[in-house]
Amino acid sequence: MDSNIWNIFLVLALFTLLRVFVVQRRSLLVSLFLHLLHPIRDRQGRQISGPPWIWANGHMIDKFLDGRAKSKEWRAYGAVYRIWSCGIPEIVITTAEDVRAFHSDSDQHAKSRSSNGGWFFHQLLGECMGLINGSRWKEVRGEFQHAFTHRAVMDMSPSISQYARDYVKDICSESSGPIVVHAANTLAKFPFFCTAKYLYGPLSREEKDELWALGQRNLALMRYVLAGGIYRFAMCRLFCTGTAKELDVFRRDWSNFNEKIYQTRRTSSPACLIVSIWKPVKEGTMKESEVLQTISEMLFANLDVSSHVLTWFVTLLAENTEVQQRLREEVESSKVSGVVSGEYCNSKDSLLRSCWLESLRLRPFTSFAIPESSPSPKILGGYQIPANASIVVDTHSINIENPLWGADTHQFRPERFAVIKPSELRYNFFAFGFGTRKCLGQHFAESMLKTFVVHLLDHYTVSIPSPSKHSGSGDYDLTRDSWVPTSNVHLILTKI
Ligand code: HEM
Ligand SMILES: *[C@@H]1O[C@H](CO)[C@@H](O)[C@H](O)[C@H]1NC(C)=O
Ligand SMILES: *[C@@H]1O[C@H](CO)[C@@H](O)[C@H](O)[C@H]1NC(C)=O
Repeated sequence: MDSNIWNIFLVLALFTLLRVFVVQRRSLLVSLFLHLLHPIRDRQGRQISGPPWIWANGHMIDKFLDGRAKSKEWRAYGAVYRIWSCGIPEIVITTAEDVRAFHSDSDQHAKSRSSNGGWFFHQLLGECMGLINGSRWKEVRGEFQHAFTHRAVMDMSPSISQYARDYVKDICSESSGPIVVHAANTLAKFPFFCTAKYLYGPLSREEKDELWALGQRNLALMRYVLAGGIYRFAMCRLFCTGTAKELDVFRRDWSNFNEKIYQTRRTSSPACLIVSIWKPVKEGTMKESEVLQTISEMLFANLDVSSHVLTWFVTLLAENTEVQQRLREEVESSKVSGVVSGEYCNSKDSLLRSCWLESLRLRPFTSFAIPESSPSPKILGGYQIPANASIVVDTHSINIENPLWGADTHQFRPERFAVIKPSELRYNFFAFGFGTRKCLGQHFAESMLKTFVVHLLDHYTVSIPSPSKHSGSGDYDLTRDSWVPTSNVHLILTKI
């Protein structure tokens, strides 16, 4: 046979071998390389373990979109293990003891730059209150703080209640029989527009439509963050000019929207939050990008969070008809002259409040909390963790797979909160964060969502059409087009 053919054959064979070892094993090679670059060991010198690196974004996508499953799967690597956000190591902690140890110097902590989400994410949210540090953070938080204290929220409670009642009435104003609705689609606009009203004052039809459309554009842009890859780097400006344009036009329109609202509210309703926060921007004492991205965080990033929390709050009550009935009786007996009372909606000592906490416990909006770091080295789970390493709390392990919650941890049993001490909750319950950087909107979110559920139960009984659970996993299907996957569940609402 012609020796040329053999040569070609040999080259092909070598090429195939190379492909198998280099290209298909590239994840393995990168894994090995990253382990050498970032050694973390325990006292016996054992390297920290964790799931193998995945081409091309590490575990960034899995962490958000498949968090519940990954939390269970990765727990096999130990109580402390390591994952990767692209090439950046993140240490996952899963026990209350380690959360306590990590947060012992919480006031010194810094948020990881853009949550380790890369360049594109930085353009959208990198400068929002939740992700900046030090003196910048103090200043931005100081500017917004006054509107979100417990007192301020209580003052706004009648307006929240009014909006909740109107929203609930509109869900099925025409039909008198039971209706089936998609939970997330039906409920999501409530927290969105309730928060918008809190920031901007009452909005006209046109303003509402414009704001919703901006939110949808923001959501579309978030998909590039989830895509990762080139979007993690500034050079994507050069290669993806269409996307870069979309980003720039969005930022311009978002700024214009806030400017327009400011101009109309300045004289008509000067007490609005937008007036007091946009004024320093115009005067040049606050950075426009920080304020815009913070409003973006409150409205757009939070749309996913609040609607996830509300959807689960209602879904868990729909699944647990006996608790729902008892809660409805509590609502009924708390009425003052036949009207739902604000005092009851905001009470800290009621079945309502226990149901709220229990739904936050069972369905944390993310299985992996926002990465942050301590400036001091830490010993976590026996490993020597260097200063400034990104630490992520596995909220699923804290809220559910945790001995404190007992053998019935998977059950919706709100009564458990009636007997638990607040000190026990401190590191055994993730909802609004643990340390100094706790959610600014926690009082507002609690008041808004509890008030909504009170009005909902006052008008409807809520149930689940059977069978709506996804057959294999025993859980509902998920819609995975945002960074907080929402459950794809339907509800039956029957007027009372
Ligand atoms: C049920 C709904 C909500 C949940 C579960 C929630 C949860 C959280 C969590 C876990 C954090 C991060 C805390 C940390 O990293 O330590 C956070 C931060 C934040 N949240 Fe919320 N949140 C909710 C609703 C809201 C609402 C409605 C607003 C605003 C109107 C809001 C505004 C903020 C802000 C501004 C931060 C950054 C705080 C800072 O870094 O100083 N949140 N939230
Ligand atoms: C916050 O501090 C961390 C650690 O010092 C740093 O990596 C990060 O870039 C800072 N983030 C911002 C937005 O400045
Ligand atoms: C941690 O980050 C801070 C702030 O960026 C820096 O001053 C410090 O040197 C860093 N420490 C280590 C051990 O890298």
